[in-house]
Amino acid sequence: MSRADVLVLFGATGDLAKKKLFPALYEMEATGELEIPVFAVASSKWTQEEFKMRASSSIRERKEVLEEPVDEDVLNKLLDKLFLVVGDYKDPLTFTKLREAITGFKLPVIYLAITPGMFTDVTQGLANVNLTASARVVVEKPFGRDLSSAIDLDESLKKLLPEDQIYRIDHYLGKESVEDLLAFRFANTLFEPVWNRNYISNIQITMSEDFGIEGRGNFYDEVGALRDVVQNHLLQVLSMLTMEPPIDMSSRALQDEKLKTLSSVRKQIPDDVIRGQYVGYLDETGVAKNSQTETFIAMKLYIDNWRWAGVPIYLRTGKKMAETTMEAVVEFKQPPRQLFSLNSSKLPDPNIVRFRMGRHDGVDLSLQAKSPGYALTTNTIDLTVEFAAALGERKEAYERLLDAAILGDHFRFTRIDAVLQSWAIFDDVLKAPSKLQPYFEGSWGPDEAQELVPGGWAICGKAADKSP
Ligand code: BG6
Repeated sequence: MSRADVLVLFGATGDLAKKKLFPALYEMEATGELEIPVFAVASSKWTQEEFKMRASSSIRERKEVLEEPVDEDVLNKLLDKLFLVVGDYKDPLTFTKLREAITGFKLPVIYLAITPGMFTDVTQGLANVNLTASARVVVEKPFGRDLSSAIDLDESLKKLLPEDQIYRIDHYLGKESVEDLLAFRFANTLFEPVWNRNYISNIQITMSEDFGIEGRGNFYDEVGALRDVVQNHLLQVLSMLTMEPPIDMSSRALQDEKLKTLSSVRKQIPDDVIRGQYVGYLDETGVAKNSQTETFIAMKLYIDNWRWAGVPIYLRTGKKMAETTMEAVVEFKQPPRQLFSLNSSKLPDPNIVRFRMGRHDGVDLSLQAKSPGYALTTNTIDLTVEFAAALGERKEAYERLLDAAILGDHFRFTRIDAVLQSWAIFDDVLKAPSKLQPYFEGSWGPDEAQELVPGGWAICGKAADKSP
């Protein structure tokens, strides 16, 4: 794999560039990992100076949120590496200008941080000026809107680029806490022997956000929770948690195992999926007055393979929920005999492994330990690790993804067969969505979703204290 020698960024005036990409480039500059220039392509008629101001203010904003100082030296070095090419994406001249701007560079990474509807047009524009010959093209999610549109998009992109030059982003694959699922399972001897239907009673994956659609009404109303985060982020977490061990840590071996797992996930039936919409969503800017788009979704899945047959896996995600958390809870069965329980109608809490993949990422193990005093009873204790405290700060997902694209490593990107398989799981649900149920801001979604897990969603660790 050769290192790319230039980065081209389409969509440089968009939200993703502002919130994630410029701050990631700054961090890469700070660690000396960004050795290449960045050419941004944008349709806004900005001067170079205005563009640099925009990049710099987005980095300052991000640093303020993190309560970290901005290193002016690093920022200036980054700004010196940024160049703007102005032009409409539909205008062939834009691509000629871009080609001229990057003449002499041999291996570009071209990042399409643009609306998915423009992927093919822009790639065609790049092909017309022969920029696709060697380029790695990074496309953002969602890849398509459903199975058939993803197949169409794939077919049109494949006419212009081979699979090994396409890098499909799912930024959850850039998260160290998500990658840790593999390390936890396959770098330790302790858990893998019990990681199956014989010992695990159920798995619960929650991605909840206490904020709404944050001015992204035009985008979100066309997409909804299932397409926005379930088909991609949550299925990635699910496959890392449940896949078989890959034969090695190559991209190919990993993708093969993920595909096998996703192919065993039972197709979802519309009536089994609980869809919710928060009260007030219809008043958001960019949202249709009679919108039927879900801002919450919950479901029970089964993986019909040898390891997981019969183990229910619950997923839920929503906007404007009680709190922001991203976690997977693996709940174990009770021991075969209750030797420490005085009251047979009240069983001790089951063992739980909770993977926290949000901002304060880490792992909690919930175990039973002998209670103090004379009685032979037990209490629940939590063993908690915060990765930042134990191991040092993690890198942001987009830094790792940009770095991987520059290096030409597909490990942290999705492969088309798995993308199509993940759409296939929800094909019927997307064709005939179930009825929407309202829920209030600050809740855990519609009542029905709370009853989905017999005995309720697991409570363990600080993050879930308020979960019913
Ligand atoms: C994005 C979705 O892909 O992921 C957003 O479009 C969502 O709606 C975001 O808020 C969550 O990402 P993270 O990294 O904050 O968990």
